Amino acid sequence: MTHLPSCKKIQNNRDGVHCAEMAMVCLNDFEEYAKVHLNKLTWDYYAAGADECCTRDDNLLAYKRIRLRPRILRDVSVSDTRTSLLGTEIAFPIGIAPTAFHCLAWHEGEVATARAAESVNTCYISSTYSTCSVEEITAAAPNGYRWFQLYVYRDRKLSEQLIHRVEALGYRALVLTVDVPYTGKRRDDIRNQFKLPPHLKVKNFEGIFQENVGPDEYGVPTNTLDPSISWKDVYWLQSLTRLPIIIKGILTKEDAELAVEHGVQGIIVSNHGGRQLDGGPATIDCLSEIVDTVQGRIEVYMDGGIRTGSDVLKAIALGAKCVFIGRPVVWGLAYKGSDGVREVLQMLAEEFRLSMALSGCRNIAEINRNLIQFSKL
Ligand code: LAC
Repeated sequence: MTHLPSCKKIQNNRDGVHCAEMAMVCLNDFEEYAKVHLNKLTWDYYAAGADECCTRDDNLLAYKRIRLRPRILRDVSVSDTRTSLLGTEIAFPIGIAPTAFHCLAWHEGEVATARAAESVNTCYISSTYSTCSVEEITAAAPNGYRWFQLYVYRDRKLSEQLIHRVEALGYRALVLTVDVPYTGKRRDDIRNQFKLPPHLKVKNFEGIFQENVGPDEYGVPTNTLDPSISWKDVYWLQSLTRLPIIIKGILTKEDAELAVEHGVQGIIVSNHGGRQLDGGPATIDCLSEIVDTVQGRIEVYMDGGIRTGSDVLKAIALGAKCVFIGRPVVWGLAYKGSDGVREVLQMLAEEFRLSMALSGCRNIAEINRNLIQFSKL
C-alpha cells in the first residue's frame, strides 16, 4: 500500500464547512482542495467553460457513458505503462496540457510544473501565456521533455521570435492552438472582470509588447491573436522551423485529414476544456472518427475531461497515443506546487496501471478497441 498524501484543511471554505484532515485519494480531492484554497477569481478562471458550460461538462460525462470489456486470466503480475511521443519515451501516456498563468495557483508557477513533469518523465506542453518565461522553465528542469504551445499573433514577428527562442532552448515540438480565433465567452470571468494581478506578467512577452498592453478581460493580451489564421499558416510555420508541428483543437475527421495533408506531425483532439465553442462535442466522442481517418499516418493525442485511470484507458483504447491533463495540474499546483503536480500525475498513472491490469493489459500495445463495448456507446 503506498502512502497517501494528506493535507490539513484548517480554513473554513466558502460554504462555511469546516474541513478536517483529508487524504488525497483521487483527482477530485485535489479539485476540492483547490476550490477551497484558490481565490475566487482564480478558481473561476480555471473552472470556466464557455457560455452554459455544456461542452466542458460533457467532456467528463462522455467517459462515464463508455463501458469496458475486460479480459481475464492474462498474468498481469508485471505491467509497463511506458509509451513514446514522436519517438521519445515517456513513463506513461499522460502529459501536461497547456494552461495559462500558473503563478495564480502557486507562487513558483510554471517552474514548479516543469520540475514535476521532469521528475516523473512525462511531457509538459508549456503555454505561451506563462507567468514564468520559457528560459526560466528550461533552467528549472533542464532535462524535461517539453513542447511549446503557440498561438499565431497578428504580429507574425512575435510568433517568429518565440519559435526561435524555444528552438534554442531545446523544446521538442510546437503545439499550434487553432481553436481561439477569438476567446470564448466565459461568464464568470466577465462578472469578475478577470485580469492578471499587477504583480504577474505574461513573462514570454516581456520586452516584446509595449508595457501598456496587458491582458484583456479574458486574461489574454488584447488584440494579439490573429483571427485570420488559416491552413496556409501551417506552411508559414513550417518555413520557420524544423520542429515537429502538432495542431491542437481538431474535432472532426475533415480537419484531421487536412492536418495530415498539410504535413504536421500530430493532432491533439481538443475543445480547449470546453472554454471555446459551447455545444461542441466531448473530445472522447470525436476521437474514433479522427483516429480512423488518420490511419496511423501521424500521432493522435487528446485532452479534456480526464479524471481517472479508466478515462485514460478508454482514450488509449480508442486510439489516442497519449492524453494531456489541464485543470488537474492546476489543482495539484494549488495543493503543493511541484510536489502537488507530481502527486496528481502519479495518482493518475497508478490508477491507469490498475485499470490496465484489471482489464487484462500488460503494456500499452495490448490496449486496443476490443476493450470498448461499442453497443452501449
Ligand atoms: C484560456 C486561454 C488562455 O483558455 O487559452 O484561458
